[in-house]
Amino acid sequence: MSSPRDRRRFLREAGLGLASATAFHLSASALRAAGANEQIQVGVIGPGGMGMSHLGELVGREDVVVSHVCDVDAQRLAAAAQLVRDRTGRDVQAVSDLRRVLDDPQVDAVWIATPDHWHAPATILACAAGKHVYVEKPCSHNLREGRLMVEAARRHKRIVQVGTQSRSTAHVIEAMRALQEGIIGDVLVAKAWNSQRRGSIGRQQPCAPPAHLDYDLWLGPAPVQPYQPNLLPGVWRWWHAFGAGDIGNDGVHDIDLARWGLGVDGHPHTITALGGKYVFDDDQQWPDTQYVVFEYPATNGFPHPRQLIFEQRIWSPYFQEGHENGNAFYGTKGMMILGKKSGWQVVLERNQPGPSMEGTFSLPDHHQNFLDSVRSGSRPRADIEIGHLTASLCHLGNIATRVNRVVHFDPATEQVIGDDEAAGLLRRTYRDHWATPRDA
Ligand SMILES: NC(=O)c1ccc[n+]([C@@H]2O[C@H](COP(=O)([O-])OP(=O)(O)OC[C@H]3O[C@@H](n4cnc5c(N)ncnc54)[C@H](O)[C@@H]3O)[C@@H](O)[C@H]2O)c1
Repeated sequence: MSSPRDRRRFLREAGLGLASATAFHLSASALRAAGANEQIQVGVIGPGGMGMSHLGELVGREDVVVSHVCDVDAQRLAAAAQLVRDRTGRDVQAVSDLRRVLDDPQVDAVWIATPDHWHAPATILACAAGKHVYVEKPCSHNLREGRLMVEAARRHKRIVQVGTQSRSTAHVIEAMRALQEGIIGDVLVAKAWNSQRRGSIGRQQPCAPPAHLDYDLWLGPAPVQPYQPNLLPGVWRWWHAFGAGDIGNDGVHDIDLARWGLGVDGHPHTITALGGKYVFDDDQQWPDTQYVVFEYPATNGFPHPRQLIFEQRIWSPYFQEGHENGNAFYGTKGMMILGKKSGWQVVLERNQPGPSMEGTFSLPDHHQNFLDSVRSGSRPRADIEIGHLTASLCHLGNIATRVNRVVHFDPATEQVIGDDEAAGLLRRTYRDHWATPRDA
């Protein structure tokens, strides 16, 4: 069974003090009503696919005023501004340069749903401007940026929540509680899988960007590369310069839960991986087939080493183990299968069926947790340090896949040991730009 230290660590990872653990069981509407008089003014940066989902939720809240929308694509910007007007009857400032949002002292917080290569630059600038930040996952484009984001949040004493909404999902929280209380004994291995059917992005040639897009601002501090239609929108995530492949896209949600259920709150020391483009014959640069194993040392009173395994097959038109994407936790007394969109089941010793629970994730609950943290100053459930540790697994898995050999990593210094090529992939090259993070 779990020790008091395990329990404390679980509560810390869950972002739950005892008081807020109790509060979680209040209904979402009760929590919302409690804060209804304190309106928080926000700007939404990058109202594209996911950004519009955030905006749609935010304009429906009585405790939030959306005062700014910001997008480098004039068509998307106009659609976002229209949505705010239609849903609230209020006007909104529509700007293309995120500095115009950050300049406004009335803005308390920003939602950042840009492509990944903008997450760290925008978050660091926002913290420095005194804004709290909800930033989409993966929090960083590379491992070094994640550390800089943690430092910026702490230096400026800002709340930074990462958009892994399963952290605020009731059945997931109950699953983690059950694991930490020892329902399957000591959890030695956790597996996360990303198996779904993606499409090809084809092969295309550079051409002029569309007139409604400020492509130079879209690139931001990333090195200039010519525009081509299969770079965006959305598909930028399949390019090295802008995303982290599907391990950092959908995989990061399940890797986050694998890490949480495994009970590790540091980095692994050894990473090994295999993968590549086995199926898609297109411009995509990241693997469609990928297997990564991360090994953690026996530390913090836990007597065994632990493994986190990630599997990716993004050409699979079927569910695996009953869940499109999911997690399996293997313990000394049983196992648990968890789907963040569906629920979980436990199998006990001698294959006896154990407890189970159904549920699906809730974006409003994750927003609520962020807004509660902004009001109270407490750490959110997907605090940036948690987001950084999880995104680091995506980055380290990608590095091991790209160099095609075992990577040894120093968890304390966040440095690769004895491999210059792998070490070079911990950070990126930037161009000279106003958003280039210092010390990157
Ligand atoms: N939490 C989730 O479940 C979930 C789901 C989908 C996507 N996401 C994340 O949301 C983010 C966006 O993904 P998407 O699929 O919506 O991408 P997208 O390309 O559809 O949207 C990104 C938007 O950001 C805009 N943009 C780019 N640079 C900008 C800048 N400097 N300032 C303002 N706007 C800028 C683009 O024009 C576009 O409208 C990604 O990080 C992705 O991983 C999260």
